[in-house]
Amino acid sequence: MKIGVYGGSFDPVHNGHIAMIRSALKSGFIDCVIVIPSVRNSFKLYTNKLPPPYRFYMMKETVEGMGLKNVFVSDIEYGIDGVSYTSIVLAKLTSDEYIIPFLTDNGIKRKKAEEHHEFFWIMGSDTLGTFENWYKPGEILNYSSLLAAVRPGDDTDVEKAKASIKKNLGGKVEIFRLDGIECSSSQITSSGDYSLVPEPALEFIKRHALYTENTKLEGVSDEARKQFFEAAVWMYRYLGGKRLLHTLNVGYLSAHLAGLYGCDKDKALIAGALHDCAKELPIEQQLEMAKRYSGDLFTEKKIIHSSAGATFVKEDLGIEDKDILDAICYHTTGRGNMTVLEKIVYLADKIEPARNYMDLGPIRETAEHDLDEAVRMTADAVRNKFKSQGREMHPVTIQMMKDLGMLSE
Ligand SMILES: [Fe+2]
Ligand SMILES: [Fe+2]
Repeated sequence: MKIGVYGGSFDPVHNGHIAMIRSALKSGFIDCVIVIPSVRNSFKLYTNKLPPPYRFYMMKETVEGMGLKNVFVSDIEYGIDGVSYTSIVLAKLTSDEYIIPFLTDNGIKRKKAEEHHEFFWIMGSDTLGTFENWYKPGEILNYSSLLAAVRPGDDTDVEKAKASIKKNLGGKVEIFRLDGIECSSSQITSSGDYSLVPEPALEFIKRHALYTENTKLEGVSDEARKQFFEAAVWMYRYLGGKRLLHTLNVGYLSAHLAGLYGCDKDKALIAGALHDCAKELPIEQQLEMAKRYSGDLFTEKKIIHSSAGATFVKEDLGIEDKDILDAICYHTTGRGNMTVLEKIVYLADKIEPARNYMDLGPIRETAEHDLDEAVRMTADAVRNKFKSQGREMHPVTIQMMKDLGMLSE
């Protein structure tokens, strides 16, 4: 098979990307396209607007939502430690151990997936001129040919670039015509005009309230921002898409609330983003980890992921900050004498933008100006739910409610 490989940030995905994919398929050089949303791009390390998992799932929903045929989205870069240089990605992607299972998982017949494949790295003609300055360009060409798009009116001297690459590196370059408009992700986010973003991506952006004031992370340190991006990549291994995006949304909202209530934004971002990290671990492992953080305080299956999470981030990520660990540990139940940070993560978990289990409008509105009242409203909703299910509330939750004046002492 002839396989096109298309890497990028897709922050956000726009019609120009889609045109690139469609035109590449129409060119006749390739049978399918593997799209790779970047994890640690050498040019944009931690400077993307969104951490990698949002960009990965946005692309996946777009490809599925638009019904793009012979287009597959790969998470290959999550398995690469450090910067995902093109040569490193291609070395992994073109290996039989990766490509055969990947193609069969995506509906290609086993026999076809085991054939010899030819790879084409898809790029714009503008980057063709600078290709020789890339990291290990010769190695890239060992794994794949280049497939460069030329836009109508493009005045790049592609023939010259092609000849130079051939002479200096001995690689093969094919050119195809790109039909479609020119646009850029940064232009979209800076202008706020999302008309060139395909519908499924737009829906995704709205659902998670992305590219808003909250996701700019103003007032968050570079160190915490980096930690947030890395935590997102780390959790990709342990959580399914929906839960991963939920827990990251809680990070963004917690940082925003921290700004409103004079709390440390860095700690809120990290505690919020990591709060559900242990939720999909095997239950025995959760129990054991929970015990190590809080003894026998939590034993109920639905709750233990909270204190297990504290152990998990402590041991796997080396996070020792007690404020962060406690905010993770008590995010489900709350407790007596809660810190502002604990209240924030408790609340953000229940009302982050993608939550829709009830009309959250009033609580969301209250959260903007009265933290305690918003926590009371949330705890009240939880109490009603427990009542209807005939469940007992945990003693630490009862203590929280007493503190907030919801129950008498
Ligand atoms: Fe949770
Ligand atoms: Fe949660």
